[in-house]
This record gives sequence, structure tokens and C-alpha cells, in this order.
Amino acid sequence: MQAVEIIQKKRNGDALTTEEINWLVEQYTHEHIPDYQMAAWLMAVCWRGMDDRETSDLTLAMARSGEQLRVCERLKPVVDKHSTGGVGDKVTLAVAPLVAACGVAVAKMTGRGLGHTGGTVDKLESISGLRTALTREEFLSILQEHGLVLAGQSAELAPADGKMYALRDVTATVESIPLIAASIMSKKLAVGASHLLLDVKVGAGAFMKTREAAHELARIMVEIGQRAGLYTEAAVTAMEQPLGRAVGNALEVAEAIAILRGEGPADVSQLCRHEAAELLVMTGSAPTREEAERRVQEAIESGRALAKLAEVCEAQGGDPQQIEQPERLPRAPVISMLTAPCSGYIAAIHAERVGLAAMRLGAGRFRKGDPIDHRTGLLLQAKVGDYLQAGDPLVEMHARSEEECAALRQELLACYRWSETPVQSGPLIYEILTPSQKGAS
Ligand code: URA
Repeated sequence: MQAVEIIQKKRNGDALTTEEINWLVEQYTHEHIPDYQMAAWLMAVCWRGMDDRETSDLTLAMARSGEQLRVCERLKPVVDKHSTGGVGDKVTLAVAPLVAACGVAVAKMTGRGLGHTGGTVDKLESISGLRTALTREEFLSILQEHGLVLAGQSAELAPADGKMYALRDVTATVESIPLIAASIMSKKLAVGASHLLLDVKVGAGAFMKTREAAHELARIMVEIGQRAGLYTEAAVTAMEQPLGRAVGNALEVAEAIAILRGEGPADVSQLCRHEAAELLVMTGSAPTREEAERRVQEAIESGRALAKLAEVCEAQGGDPQQIEQPERLPRAPVISMLTAPCSGYIAAIHAERVGLAAMRLGAGRFRKGDPIDHRTGLLLQAKVGDYLQAGDPLVEMHARSEEECAALRQELLACYRWSETPVQSGPLIYEILTPSQKGAS
């Protein structure tokens, strides 16, 4: 086979065979195909797309390109949960221990934040001493002993994706639904859980800006899971305004702890409970939705969910006291309040701009590898639909200096739209796609 012929075929809009896709991924992984040919092929995919079979073949080829953990050979069921990323999205930090406390094992490999969206690894590293770089043996033994593991993505997992993602990032080929789906699902298949719940975010703070695009991404990922024997469901959820109130690493850990105590903000708490219950139902661990919700509630009220998070933090070298007493988490030296510039109802809070503002405080990275400051971020004092008087608290800024706070005020105010008349905040969950009803709402 010749790379140029495969590029040409895709450029002309023809479907590639399974053999061609396997060959391309294998040759590229072993550096027998240069970046410039792969970049040309990726661009052809961006323009011409791929059908479901091709996308599924690409995913499997990428999943097979490196280590495969096959976690469900050790424990069954074992679930995995993945969010396509958003602002203030600390759902994994709460859902994983909630589900584990209900007796279902959770194996989670997760990434760092890049751009305006945060990453669970960065959030976890707010906890003193906590290690997310685990060896394969550590990952598997913590999972087996505690029924929960929260680790950073191993470089050996789906290395074809690592190489292709780096290339996509610099060749304007990230925004392709088949490529995004293959990238996410190849890493999930390489972990090898028995059940997967995907949270496909849509809106101003998400990768997917339209409901149609989010639905299509969700649909194809559920389809790939089904073809590969990984039971997959996908929830399409709102990311117009930040989720919850905290944006920034240690602040988000503290909010996840509040959720596990039953004291979190309504929107993010509702989403966490919903996702946890969905995981219990999809694995057959709870016979009905009502029973699943009851168990989730009980895990919160009894303190078992929070204790599970503390337990796994300790197992990974972290300080469990910071989970039991979140006031011990790292705290920024300057805390300054931005107040409402006018009276009125909050009509919109632009999630992406809030995420960028938190990045300027040091909570995120502009370039891969940049250091971050886990202490910094924003605490929203009000959400869409709330009424404020001019001068009421709007955003608490957690910063390294007064100057940084002052520099951010206008940018933060520009994230808000105000209304004189009452505003309803929209739904949080738009639809859930399951293998049997991939298009159902
Ligand atoms: N997340 C991934 O892992 N891959 C993509 O392509 C986009 C988001």
C-alpha cells in the first residue's frame, strides 16, 4: 500500500477499507509515514468525513496501537466516564467516588486541561502529594483494592492518538467529528472497562457549539462502543454557562467535596446524581432508576461517597485530610470580589470567556506544558436566572495579586448579559443516547 493512494482516495470522498485504515495507523505509529502525509490525510478526513464503519475501524486501529489495560478482565462490571470538557466541570471528581461507594468499580484515566476547559488531572493535583502518574500495576492494584482509581493518561495508551492529536492541533484538523470520536473512544477502548458513560457538552464553553454537532458526536461514539463490545451511553448536556460555581483547580475540588456532602450548587449536583444513577442502572447494579437514585442519595448522606474519595486520594499518595477538611486545600493569597454593575436578572454567563479569565489568573495553560497555579480561579456568586442589585457580589476572584484581579474586572464583566425581566435557565440534560435508541431523546 502507498500512503499517497490512501490520501487520494479520501480526498476524492471514497470510503477506505479496514485494511487501508489499519495499515495507515500502524505505519504512522511506527514512523514509517511522515507527519506531512498524515496531516494531508487528516485534512482530507476533515473535508470528506468518514462513515460509521470507517470511524469504528480507525478507533480500533488507534486503540490497538499501544498498551491495552483490559480492566474488565480483573473486575466486572467496571465503569468509565468521560466528559468532552467544559468550564467548571468537576463532575468526574464527584461521580467516580459516588459510583464506587455504591459498589461499582470505576477505572478513570483522565487528561490535563488545555485551553479554556479544565482537566481532572490538574484538579486532582491540587491535593498535596496525590500522584496521578501511576504505573500499569499501580493502576490495576488500586482499582482492585479500592474499587476506584483516578489516574493521568498513560503515554503508552493509544500512542497513535497522542501523535495524531499533536498533529491535528497544529494543522487545524481538530474539529472533525469522526476524528474527535476516534480519538476519545480509542483511549476508552484501550482502558477496557465494561460500561462507559459519555458526557458530550454543548454550548459556548464546549467543543461542540450546536446541538446537532453534539448529537452526531454522541451518536457515533455510542455506535463505536457497540461495534467494539463496550456498552456505551452518551448524555448531551449544557455548557452555555459554567457548571456549578467554582472554576479553577482547588476551588473545583472543594466544590466536588461539597457535592459529595450534599451541599453543592443545584445544577452540578443534579448532573452528578443523574450520571451516577445512570451508571448504576446501565451496569444492572440497580434494578430501577428510582432505586439507583435512592442508593446515590444514601451514599451521600451516609458520608460513604466522601470517604471513598478520601480513601483513594490516600491510596494515590494524597492527603486525605484535605478531603475531610477542604479548608486545608491550597488557597490563593488574594481574594477579591467583583460586584454587579447594574440591577437585573442574569441572562447569560459566557462559559468560554469565564474559562479564559480563570486561565489568566493562572488556573489553566495557554500552551501545553505551561505550569498552572492550583490555588487560583473564580467563584461565581450568582447564575443565570438570579436577580442581583447593583453592588451585590458577582464573582469572587482568587488570585496571586491585586493587580491580576484589577486587570480582569472588565473582561469578567463582559462575560455577563443582563435582563430587566425574569430569565429561565435552560435544561441541563438535553438527551441521552443508548445503543438501542441512538437517536432517542
Ligand atoms: N478530546 C480528545 O481526547 N480528542 C479530541 O480529538 C478532542 C477532545
